[in-house]
Amino acid sequence: MSKLTNEELKKSIEYLHKLNDKYDNIGQDFLQYMEGLVHSNGLKYWDYIHVDSLLGLQMPRTDFSDEIIFITYHQITELYFKLIKLELEQLTDRDKKEFESLEFWYKRIGRINNYFKHLCNSFDVMKSGMDARDFRAFRMALLPASGFQAVQFRHIEIMSTNLNSLLSENARNERDVPLEKIYQHIYWKSGGIDMRTGKKTLTLLEFEKKYDRELMRWLKNYKFRNLNYLFYRLDKEMKKDKKLVTLLREYDQYINVYWKLSHMMAASRHLPKDDQGTGGTNWRKFLPPKFQKVMFFETLWLPEEKKDWGKAGVQKAFRENVQKEWMKPNKFEE
Ligand code: HEM
Repeated sequence: MSKLTNEELKKSIEYLHKLNDKYDNIGQDFLQYMEGLVHSNGLKYWDYIHVDSLLGLQMPRTDFSDEIIFITYHQITELYFKLIKLELEQLTDRDKKEFESLEFWYKRIGRINNYFKHLCNSFDVMKSGMDARDFRAFRMALLPASGFQAVQFRHIEIMSTNLNSLLSENARNERDVPLEKIYQHIYWKSGGIDMRTGKKTLTLLEFEKKYDRELMRWLKNYKFRNLNYLFYRLDKEMKKDKKLVTLLREYDQYINVYWKLSHMMAASRHLPKDDQGTGGTNWRKFLPPKFQKVMFFETLWLPEEKKDWGKAGVQKAFRENVQKEWMKPNKFEE
C-alpha cells in the first residue's frame, strides 16, 4: 500500500473536515458515510451514461437497414435541441445574477450557435448518408409521423422570440387578438395542410391534440421573457455591443436559414419532385426559409437583408461574419 506524502495527508485532513461539516449541517453521521465509502463500488462509465438504455432506444419499424440511421439522427438532433434549451433557460432566467453581463450572453449564445453549427454540418447523414430508394420505402411505414412534430423545435422558437415573429406573414402585427385566436395563425400550422383538400393533415391534428395547450402555456410564459424581449430590455450600451449583435444574428441565421436549408436539401434528395410531404403537405412551399421568413431578432436586420432572407445575399454576409476570429467555436469556453 502506498504511503501518503505529508502534503497529501494535509489535503486529506482538510477534505475530512469539509465532509464532516457537510454531513453535520444536514444532521447526518459522518462516520457512517465514511464506512459506506469503503464498501461502495466506483461509478462505471456504462452505468453513468446509461449506454445500454441509450443503445436500446433505436427500434426500426421495417427491415430496411438504413432506418436505424434515420431514427438515430433524429434522436441525436433531439439531444442537441435539449442542450440548446438548457442554454435558453439560463438566458431567460431573470433571477440569474450574471444576467446583466455581456460575458453571460456571449457564452450562452456562443454555445447555442456551436450546437447549431454541428447540426447544420451533420445533416448530410440524412442526405447522402441514407440509401434514397430504401428511404422512400421505409418512410411509408412511418406515416403519419414527421419531424414536423418535434415539439422541442417549437420550444426553442417560443423561448427565442415573440409570438408576432412566429405568425404567418399575413397575420403579423395584428393588435388585441386573443392568444387562442392568433395562435391558429402560427406559421408552422401552414406546414401541416393537405394541399389537395386544404384540410389539416393527420400529422398536424395529432400534434395539435398533444401539444397545442402546452404550447399556448409556453407562449404565455415566455411573452415577457423570451430572448428577443430580454435583449431589448438590456441597457443601451449592451444592446449596441457589436459582438452580442453579431452572435444574435448568427443564431437567427443558424436556426432560421441554415438548419432549414440543410433540412430542405435532405428532403429534396429523398422526396421526388411531385412528392407530397407527410399526409399530402406542400412542403416545397413550406420548408424554404425565404417563404417562411421567420426571424427571431427582426430589428437586427436591415430592410434589404429581410427582403432577401434565406437568399444568397444574406448568407454571404453571414459567412463573412463567421470568418471573424471570435466567431469560431471554443472561443466561448471559460
Ligand atoms: C431525410 C430526412 C428528412 C426528410 C425527408 C424530412 C421531411 C420533412 C418534410 C416533408 C417536412 C414538412 C412537413 C411534412 O410534410 O411532414 C418536414 C418538417 C420538419 N422536419 Fe423533417 N425531414 C427529415 C429529417 C428531419 C430531422 C432529422 C429532423 C430533426 C428533428 C426534422 C425535423 C423537422 C421539423 C422541425 C420540421 C418543421 C420545420 C419548420 O417548421 O420549418 N426533420 N420534414
